[in-house]
This record gives sequence, C-alpha cells and structure tokens, in this order.
Amino acid sequence: MENIIETNNLCMSFGQKKALDNVNLHVKKGEIYGFVGENGAGKTTTMKIILGLLEQTSGEVLINGNTNLDSQRKSIGALIEAPGLYLNKTARDNLELFTYLFGGDKEAIPSLLKKVGLDNTNNKKVGQFSLGMKQRLGIAVSLIGNPDILILDEPINGLDPKGILEMRNLFKSLKEEGKTILISSHILTELAKIADRFGIIHNGVLVKEVSSEEISTEQKACIFKVSDVSKGIEILKEANILNKYDVLDDKLRIYYPFDKKNTIKYLINNDVLIESIIDEHIDVENYIVNKMEA
Ligand SMILES: Nc1ncnc2c1ncn2[C@@H]1O[C@H](COP(=O)(O)OP(=O)(O)OP(=O)(O)O)[C@@H](O)[C@H]1O
Ligand SMILES: [Mg+2]
Repeated sequence: MENIIETNNLCMSFGQKKALDNVNLHVKKGEIYGFVGENGAGKTTTMKIILGLLEQTSGEVLINGNTNLDSQRKSIGALIEAPGLYLNKTARDNLELFTYLFGGDKEAIPSLLKKVGLDNTNNKKVGQFSLGMKQRLGIAVSLIGNPDILILDEPINGLDPKGILEMRNLFKSLKEEGKTILISSHILTELAKIADRFGIIHNGVLVKEVSSEEISTEQKACIFKVSDVSKGIEILKEANILNKYDVLDDKLRIYYPFDKKNTIKYLINNDVLIESIIDEHIDVENYIVNKMEA
C-alpha cells in the first residue's frame, strides 16, 4: 500500500530541546494510523510540521509521495488540540464562516452537519454544546473541502463514553468513505478499537510502527503450570534453554522466543509434571506501553 504521508529523518529542536529525532513516519492510504506516546513525546510537533504550522529543523515531509507541499496540503483537513470555534454562533453559522474562510462548498454544510450528528442543533449556540458536540463540530470544520486526509490531535480527549462511541462511529464511517486518518490519543483502549496501525513515539524518537494485526499475532509468553517450579527452572537452566522468565506462584512464565519442544521434553524427562501450558497473548494497550518504556 502506498504511503500517503511520509516523513524522512524529521528533526525538530526548540532551542536546546530536541523534540523530534529522525522521525520516519509512514501513513498508508485509507488507514487509521494511531499516533501514540507520552506527554511531550512529539506528536503535536510532528503533526504541526506535516501541516506546515511549524518548520522542521531538518528532514522532509512527503504527502502523496510529493515534496511540493503547498498543493498537497489542500488534501488535508486537521484538528489540532482544541477546535477554535465561534461560541456565540450556531454549528451551521460556524461551518458557513469556516467554509467562507477556507474556501469550501457551502452546499455541503447540511451533509457535514448530518455526518457529525449535529443536524438537529438548530439555533443552539456552540457555547451551549457539550464537549463531545464541540469536538464533532471541530471534525466537521476539518472536513470542509472534502479532504482525503484527516490529521486529528487528541480528538477524543475529555469525552464521556457516549461521546467516544459517537466519535468511533464517525471515524469508521470516514474510513469507509476512503479517507486516511492520522490520529493521536492517550486513550489506548479506544485507539486499539479503530486503528489499523500504530506509530509509537518516545522522547522524539519513533520507536516502532506496527499494525494491529502484527500485535495481535505476537505472543508474549507461555505459562507452564508444573508440579515443581524451582526444579523446573533448575533443569531448564542446566539444559541451557531458559532465557527470560517469571515465576507466578505454581506457574512458570517463559517469554517468547524460546524452544518450546525441548522445554517440554526436559521437564517431562526429569519428572516435572506439566499440568497445563497456556499461551499468553498480549493486548494492544500493554504492547504499546511496553514499547514506550523500552
Ligand atoms: N513551541 C515550543 N517551544 C518550545 N518547546 C516546545 C514547543 N512545542 C513543543 N515543545 C516541546 O517539544 C516536545 C514535544 O512536544 P509535543 O507538544 O509535540 O508533545 P506531544 O506528544 O504532543 O505531547 P502531549 O501528549 O502532551 O500533547 C516537548 O518537550 C515540548 O515541551
Ligand atoms: Mg500534543
């Protein structure tokens, strides 16, 4: 699949502070890319550079394989941090104003309102909207001009479960329309439900890009319930086939990769009874947190 957004050795310094260190990001066409990392990891900075709101110290950004960004950026809609909305105006008035400012199609406003579920807000002023409604209006603003790519920085921050669910459905329908979405969030359980791939950034370094498929097929460890854990450890150490492991009461957790066949063989041959062997699958949230700490 082709890269719709790519960065090559993107570096950014704010004075002495190195905010981005050779970031090579690859967002593929049509996917939801979850951009995750701790506070100050460099997510917003990366997004701002892609959008041209900040200029990098070095490195390059390609959109649709092109470094001529002025024209390519027209295909991007964005919501960075909180949406700047006119609070004393209605949702429709806001969209009309931004359509005028950004140069979109005024006729598209009713369908935009419907798409984000704000078509029944009538004369209600945005100042009286819930946080979720404001965020959805922010997304509607980012959709003006029908962009192919959306860059959304923390769009579900502060939303309640219902607001989050509405957003999830909105992202899914935008993906179905063929849009590519680069989204940052700290809510990993939620991102795990929608993202096709993840980029994990830590202290300005993109430590890993991984698909949710790869995460779900990656097994973390195997748990052996045995009759005598310490004897089992001794035997496996002697046979030189025990690498990383933990002891959990009467169980031995052995991390992949390890020689499963020989582990079983040595335990049995040395009279350590095996009651059960269970593969432990890692969930997306734990996987990401582990990578951030690594
Ligand atoms: N305008 C600025 N001037 C100086 N330092 C900045 C500026 N913008 C960001 N930084 C620094 O760059 C680093 C990356 O910040 P950035 O806002 O990109 O992180 P983030 O991953 O978006 O964090 P958060 O999850 O808190 O939004 C941080 O150390 C931050 O303090
Ligand atoms: Mg940020």
